[in-house]
Amino acid sequence: MNPILVIGGTSIVGRQVLSQLVGKGAPVRAMTRNPDTCDLPPQVEVVRGDLTLRETLDGCLDGIDAVFLVWTAPAAAAAPALERIARHARRIVFLSAPLKTPHPFFQQPNPVRALAEQIERLIESSRLQWTYLRPGMFAANALRWWAPQIRSGEVVRWPYLSVPTAPIDERDIAAVAVRALCEDGHAGAEYVITGPQSLSQFEQVSTIGRAIGRPLRIEEISPDEAIRDGIPSVPAFVVKVLLDAWASAIGQPAHVTSTVAEVTGIPARTFLNWAADHATEFRA
Ligand SMILES: NC(=O)c1ccc[n+]([C@@H]2O[C@H](COP(=O)([O-])OP(=O)(O)OC[C@H]3O[C@@H](n4cnc5c(N)ncnc54)[C@H](OP(=O)(O)O)[C@@H]3O)[C@@H](O)[C@H]2O)c1
Repeated sequence: MNPILVIGGTSIVGRQVLSQLVGKGAPVRAMTRNPDTCDLPPQVEVVRGDLTLRETLDGCLDGIDAVFLVWTAPAAAAAPALERIARHARRIVFLSAPLKTPHPFFQQPNPVRALAEQIERLIESSRLQWTYLRPGMFAANALRWWAPQIRSGEVVRWPYLSVPTAPIDERDIAAVAVRALCEDGHAGAEYVITGPQSLSQFEQVSTIGRAIGRPLRIEEISPDEAIRDGIPSVPAFVVKVLLDAWASAIGQPAHVTSTVAEVTGIPARTFLNWAADHATEFRA
């Protein structure tokens, strides 16, 4: 079997895809801009590549049959990079978003959505055999957004606390990805992947409190305060994307699918399960 290339191997989902492929004994290669600091398992062949530097891609793609693509690079790099990928690979699994799901949360026009649509157009105009993963909100966002406040014992101050999402565990997204990378029968599939429950953001923070055995103080702030204060690890333009999505979904249950169970045979993990497995990262 040729190695599978994970582009974005150091990302939240990419790391899980790599570790599950290693667990299956599949040969895997990870592309990163920083091989010296990427901290990936020893079974992974690590290669240096940058999606914005097309000349770095051929070496990474040499001998590859299937690619898992995580894209957070600038849009201008997409066409040349996809052209290189299509030259080498036969199959691509792209980490996209629920672009076609008719729930207001997923239907706000914004630059993140436009970029995913652009990449899908490029993939579909190539000869690549594709599968799209369309996950909703990652459970792991909680580590970026709330862990700093929770660890320091501060009040968790957050906008749109009543708005629900269905957070999805990165291990479950990866499990679907691994099926699509390793098995036939997933070409042309668009997997909308969510966690098993619609939970308000208030309930999600409270669930973390249960997981770490400490009730948390939670306080609603206005969208303007969120813009003024920012969100940890989130660029300002993405803060606006998030605020618009939450505002659109007030009063609506989150969209919930059973895709993880249908594709893998194992139901998606609950947010409580995710939080319990990450409890140490929320403790001081
Ligand atoms: N967060 C959510 O709730 C959510 C929901 C649905 C969809 N998504 C989508 O999921 C994707 C991943 O988001 P994320 O926040 O999980 O990403 P992330 O963990 O921050 O990882 C970003 C990855 O992109 C790689 N990367 C960035 N620029 C690169 C470049 N120029 N060349 C090569 N690699 C580059 C990084 O690799 P190195 O730094 O190692 O080079 C890293 O592995 C995004 O497309 C996002 O829109 C996210």
